[in-house]
Amino acid sequence: MRKIYEQFVARENLLNKQYDEAYYKKQHQRGKLTARERILLLFDEGTFEETDAYTPPATASFGKTVEAFGDGVVTGFGSVNGRLVYAFSQDFSVLGGSLGTVHAAKIVKIQDMALKTGAPVVGLIDSGGARIQEGVSSLNGYADIFKRNVMSSGVIPQISVIMGPAAGGAVYSPALTDFIFMTADTSYMFVTGPNVVKEVLNETVSTEDLGGASVHGTKSGVADFVYNDDENTILGVKKLLSYLPSNNMENPPLIQSEDPVSRVEESLRNIVPDDPDKPYDVKDIVRLIVDKGEFLEVAENHAANIFTAFARLDGQVVGIVANQPKVMAGTLDIDSSIKAARFINICDSFNIPIITLEDVPGFLPGTDQEHDGIIRHGAKLLYAYTYATVPKITVILRKAYGGAYIVMNSKGIGGDFSFAWPTAEIAVMGPDGAIAILYRKELKESENPTVLKKELTQKYREEVTNPYIADEKGFVDEVIDPALTRHKIIRSLKTLERKTEYKPKRKHGNMPL
Ligand code: HXC
Repeated sequence: MRKIYEQFVARENLLNKQYDEAYYKKQHQRGKLTARERILLLFDEGTFEETDAYTPPATASFGKTVEAFGDGVVTGFGSVNGRLVYAFSQDFSVLGGSLGTVHAAKIVKIQDMALKTGAPVVGLIDSGGARIQEGVSSLNGYADIFKRNVMSSGVIPQISVIMGPAAGGAVYSPALTDFIFMTADTSYMFVTGPNVVKEVLNETVSTEDLGGASVHGTKSGVADFVYNDDENTILGVKKLLSYLPSNNMENPPLIQSEDPVSRVEESLRNIVPDDPDKPYDVKDIVRLIVDKGEFLEVAENHAANIFTAFARLDGQVVGIVANQPKVMAGTLDIDSSIKAARFINICDSFNIPIITLEDVPGFLPGTDQEHDGIIRHGAKLLYAYTYATVPKITVILRKAYGGAYIVMNSKGIGGDFSFAWPTAEIAVMGPDGAIAILYRKELKESENPTVLKKELTQKYREEVTNPYIADEKGFVDEVIDPALTRHKIIRSLKTLERKTEYKPKRKHGNMPL
C-alpha cells in the first residue's frame, strides 16, 4: 500500500480503537445503548455519513480533558425511511456527554447544514450539560445551538430524544424543538436537580420524581412520547418522521392507501350514547375513520381530555384534534388548551391539515383554573386554530357548547368545513344551565317542577340545540350520516388541496403566552 494510504488507514484504526469492548460494556451496564449504536439504529442501514469524527476536544485550563476523538458527540447525516435527516448523538462515556466548544461546534454545523438543505434534525441527548471546565465558552456553545433551534423553528422538523441526563439550561434546546421523546427509567430533564431542590427548598426528591419520563410524559407534558427503552424510542422517532415533511416547503409523504375512500362504517351510527352525559372513547371513532385504523398519538398521557394524533386519510397525513368524553367529560382546561394549541401550530407549520372531532361541554369551571389563567391559556387554542391556514375540517359529534364551540375550529374563526352528526347539540350552554337561568321563576312557582323541567328540556333540544338549526343558518355545512364520515372528510380534503389564505402583512402575530 502506498505510504500515504497507510497513514489514512492508521488514522481510521485509531478512531475505531476508542470504541473497544469496555466502552460498550460501560454504557450497556447503565441500561443504555452507546451514542454510535443509537445513530446506527436511527438511520437506514449503510446510509450514515459521519461528520467531524476526528475532532479533538478543546483543551481547558481546569484540566480533565480526554483523548477521545469527536469530543463526546457523534454527528452526521443519512437516510431515515429513505429521506435525508441530520442527527447528533451525545456520548455519555466522554466527560459525561458534556457540551464543550468543539462538541457544540459540531452540533451547530449539523444544524446549519440541515437548515440549508431543508432536512429534519434529530438530537439524541445524553449529557451532563455545559462542560464545567470550559466555562463561558461552553455556555456560549449552548447559545449558538439555541439560536439555530429558534431560526429553524417552523422551517425544518426538530426532534429531541432524551436518553440520559438533560440538566440545567441544557433542557432549553429540547424545549425549543418540535417534539421531545424520553426513554423510561434512564432519562431525566430538569432545570435544577435534586441537590439544588434540597438546598433551596429543603425538599427531598428523587431524580425520577423530579424530572423522569413518568413526570414529563404525564404531569408537565414536556415529553410528547415516552418509550420503554432505547430501541423502541428510536423506532418511535422513525415513525414520527414518516408523518412529517422534510421542511415547510413540502407536504408530508403521501402513501398510496388501500383503504377505500368511501368505506361505510355503520357502527358509527350507534357509537355516541343516547344519554348525553354518558362517556365514550373518541379513539374508537378515530380508528373507524382513518386509514387502516392507524394513528400516532402525541402526548398520550398528558391532558388526556384532548386527543392529538397524526394519521392518514386516503394516504394524506392529517393531524387529529378530538375532545375525549372519557376523561373529564372532554372539557377544555389549561393543559388541554396548551396541548392542542401546540399540536395545531406544528401541523400548520408543516402543511398538515387539521381534522377536529368535537364533543365538548365547555371550559372547565373553578377557582383553580381561573387563578391559573384559563383565560390566557384557553386563548392559545383559539389563537392557534384561527391563525392556522392549513385545511381545517370539523365534525361535531355531540356537544358543542359555549366558547368551546367557537374555539374548536368553528366556521366563524376560519374552519373550512363543518359537519355535524345528527347527535350534535350546538348552543350557548346545555339544557340544564339554560333552563335554570331562563325559567328559574317558573320552576320555583311550578307545582311539578320535574315535569316542567322535562318539558322545557325537550323544547330546548327541539328549538335551540339541534344541529339542523346550525345547518340551516350555514354555521354547519351539512348534517351527515356518521357512517359516511370518512368519505365526507376525504372529499373535503381534496376540495381544499390548493387552499391558499393570505394574512395581513406583519412581522408576526402576538400569540397569547
Ligand atoms: C464536565 C462532566 C459534566 C459536566 C458530568 N461530567 N457532567 N464533566 N462537565 N457538566 C463528567 C463527570 O465528571 C464524570 O467524569 C462523568 O462525566 C460521568 O459523570 P458522573 O457524575 O460520574 O455520572 P452520574 O453519576 O451518572 O451523574 C450524571 C450527572 C452528573 C447527573 C449528569 O454528572 C451531574 O450532575 N453533572 C453536572 C450536571 C450539571 O449541573 N451540568 C451543568 C448544567 S447547566 P469521570 O471522569 O469521573 O468519568 C448547563 C448550562 C446550559 O448546562 C446553558 C444554557 C442556558
